[in-house]
Amino acid sequence: MPIRKLAAANLKNQRVLMRADFNVPMKNGKITDDGRILAALPTIKLLLENSNKIILLAHLGRPKGEVKPELSLAPIAERLAQLLEINVKLVTDLTMDFADEKVVLLENVRFDSRETSKVASDRMELAKTWVPLAESYVSDGFGVVHREQASVTEIAKLLPSFAGLLIEKENVAFERVLLNPQRPYAVIMGGSKVSDKLKVIENLLPKVNKLLVGGGMTYTFLAAQGYSVGKSLLEEEMIESVKKLLQRAVEMNIEILLPVDVVVAKEISPEVDTEVKLISEISSDEMGLDIGPATIRLYQAALADAKTVVWNGPMGVFELEAFSGGTRAIAETLSTLSAYTVIGGGDSAAAIRKFQMAEESFSHISTGGGASLELLEGKELPGLRVLEENE
Ligand code: 3PG
Repeated sequence: MPIRKLAAANLKNQRVLMRADFNVPMKNGKITDDGRILAALPTIKLLLENSNKIILLAHLGRPKGEVKPELSLAPIAERLAQLLEINVKLVTDLTMDFADEKVVLLENVRFDSRETSKVASDRMELAKTWVPLAESYVSDGFGVVHREQASVTEIAKLLPSFAGLLIEKENVAFERVLLNPQRPYAVIMGGSKVSDKLKVIENLLPKVNKLLVGGGMTYTFLAAQGYSVGKSLLEEEMIESVKKLLQRAVEMNIEILLPVDVVVAKEISPEVDTEVKLISEISSDEMGLDIGPATIRLYQAALADAKTVVWNGPMGVFELEAFSGGTRAIAETLSTLSAYTVIGGGDSAAAIRKFQMAEESFSHISTGGGASLELLEGKELPGLRVLEENE
């Protein structure tokens, strides 16, 4: 269903409420990755070019309705001001006079328990307090469109509302891989748990030609095939579901590729001794923590002719150098393909930034973690639904 787009709305000289996802990682009060702030800039700049005033709504963390100073948006306001080269005022009180400001940022919307309340009337009550501030609402926090929250869904029902440029871009990328992929189509699934990704795999399996598996979830797949996986991460309760999935793939003639070798160690630590082992050779005191070199070559060959690739989840414990080789190799391989490449948000996007790879080498890197997973699961997301043309 088409969504109402800011690009077509031509908002000029208005006061515009804009939801962004500024939920960025922080360490000791400092932003460690400002990717989501950068992703909001095109919409902010477009609104400013058209002489609109912007009142930004955003959250940080999960303060659960309490004012938690460590979750203040003050560092975000500061970073935005640097990037935009204008003053960005952080506002805690809606009765404050900010008529002279071009961009204001309301303090963490989740300091008010009504934002995330399960009761629709509470959320609506909060959204109504924002209505007098603006004439239109622009939704651009793609990372929160899977949430039914006052600043995402209720406010969109109270003001003329439009999808910002980031949501539009994310929507185009996900529609392309979900509805209209060019073939051959390969999906690379990684990350620690099969249970987190099973719905995504089930939804994508009938659409793809190949599924490549890596990361911690590998070991539940290997266990389902009868291998001993030592101390590797294993979700025993998922083994039956994985067996069924492997069977379905055979029936549908879809290739599921599993690692043939892995990097093992006795513990997860930066200095530990590592070894490459065939999957049939993992000892009872070892754990698999990355895909091995033969698997990398196998996956590179499998991806070579792909026209569409979706990648969600790292191939190993990439945060530690010793176990980052597989994730890095897959990222590098994708960056050289001429295929349409979509990187699911969360850890795979974090890995690309950690390896300092050029974002332009990929067709799309999603800013959504949970939101991108839910889209890949085939769910309808409430924050997108409120922006649909017939809503
Ligand atoms: C995210 O980080 O994925 C979004 O900002 C949503 O945050 P939440 O999971 O706390 O709702």
